[in-house]
Amino acid sequence: MLSKAASRTASTRILPLNRVANPFSRFALPSASITTTTTTTTTPTTSTSSKISLLDSVDTHKNFHFYAQHGRAPRVLVTGSLGQLGTGLVQLMRSKYGADNVIATDIKRPTREFWSTGPFMYADVLDYKGLEQIVVDNGIDWVVHLSAVLSAVGEKNPQLALNINLNGFQNVLDLAKTHQLRLLSPSTIGAFGPSTPKDSTPDTTIMRPNTIYGITKLHMELMGEYYHQKHGVDFRSLRYPGIISADTQPGGGTTDYAVEIFHSALRDNHYTSFLGPDSELPMMYITDCLRGTVELLEHPGDTLTQRVYNLDACSFSPAQLAEEIRRQHSEDFSIGYSEPDFRQAIADSWPRSIDGSQAKVDWGWNPVYDDTSKLVAEMFKQLKPLFARQTKQQPQEHEEHRHEYRPQQAVLA
Ligand SMILES: NC(=O)c1ccc[n+]([C@@H]2O[C@H](COP(=O)([O-])OP(=O)(O)OC[C@H]3O[C@@H](n4cnc5c(N)ncnc54)[C@H](O)[C@@H]3O)[C@@H](O)[C@H]2O)c1
Repeated sequence: MLSKAASRTASTRILPLNRVANPFSRFALPSASITTTTTTTTTPTTSTSSKISLLDSVDTHKNFHFYAQHGRAPRVLVTGSLGQLGTGLVQLMRSKYGADNVIATDIKRPTREFWSTGPFMYADVLDYKGLEQIVVDNGIDWVVHLSAVLSAVGEKNPQLALNINLNGFQNVLDLAKTHQLRLLSPSTIGAFGPSTPKDSTPDTTIMRPNTIYGITKLHMELMGEYYHQKHGVDFRSLRYPGIISADTQPGGGTTDYAVEIFHSALRDNHYTSFLGPDSELPMMYITDCLRGTVELLEHPGDTLTQRVYNLDACSFSPAQLAEEIRRQHSEDFSIGYSEPDFRQAIADSWPRSIDGSQAKVDWGWNPVYDDTSKLVAEMFKQLKPLFARQTKQQPQEHEEHRHEYRPQQAVLA
């Protein structure tokens, strides 16, 4: 008997009207015509266009491996596609493989804007049959599993984190085994723990995480490796640092302050940080994260020496980030620090910097935003025009809510 969610998935396949239903209708490499207003990985400090194709920066030759083998683009299912990383990743993959070849799913309603860019379906990762139906009906080759409960939300609601991060992942892993799918499921620096070496933390080291998020992510890494060894599942994972994005809202992680601070700088020229001044953590600009994800996803499996890679870019503390904001944005920008809450303990258990050298050797990882100044410059380049427009459109509302953190996506949706 199908669960409620599964039967709903079965009876309501949602496809935009102009979308092609036949999954194998595209045999040619799609052209790189889709641009993004939010991303650039070329020359972060000098580029003037706000519409730069992220595809320009992706190493497209790696894509030929799948084409050479199959004579068509891969069909990709993305779970949790409406989160901080999913919207950009879907956009990037659609520009590479063709819009119809990337099936975006989530349990939330997409914006009209997102919905109009390609197929979207409801899929709860706790519903194995519902996921399986999407895989079978749509001829899926690869799954990018983004559904998760992040660190801060996980500490507040451990039961939810256990359920989504363990059971949801297990469903996707079993699906990959049954249907021979390539599976990429991101991990995190949160999989390390307080006894892990803090500087240039290598891929393989002491891992004793002390948060629910970290424990579930380490479990995910080990289960993925186990299924790879035992059942030949093509599992891949990346340990992301904190991800900084201008256009999407962070999903409740410990590094969220590093997104909030830019919005507060533009709105109030002041920010109150929930992490202390010296909490240095590894960070990454979103286009590096998305590009690295796609590069590992596309890389031929036989040249990977391991299944889980650190993904490094830069590291900074709240005080260092504030200093860079003062330098680039306004010398009057000020930062304060609230009483530390539970997120401080999470941050204290994570590395200050990670070593991504094996990713560089195995599949050519090469971050563009590899220092704080480049990342800060890009964030302001993306945010300033949007804030200017927002202030012009909603002066009254802006004034009323000026002390609230209001990420752009919520404003634009
Ligand atoms: N954003 C970061 O800084 C960061 C850092 C390290 C690792 N990661 C990892 O990257 C991945 C994506 O992160 P994100 O920041 O986009 O997360 P997010 O919290 O922004 O998005 C997660 C998405 O999962 C969806 N979801 C929740 N429950 C679900 C369910 N039952 N079924 C289907 N979907 C469900 C949510 O609706 C949401 O859209 C996660 O695995 C996360 O652990 C993120």
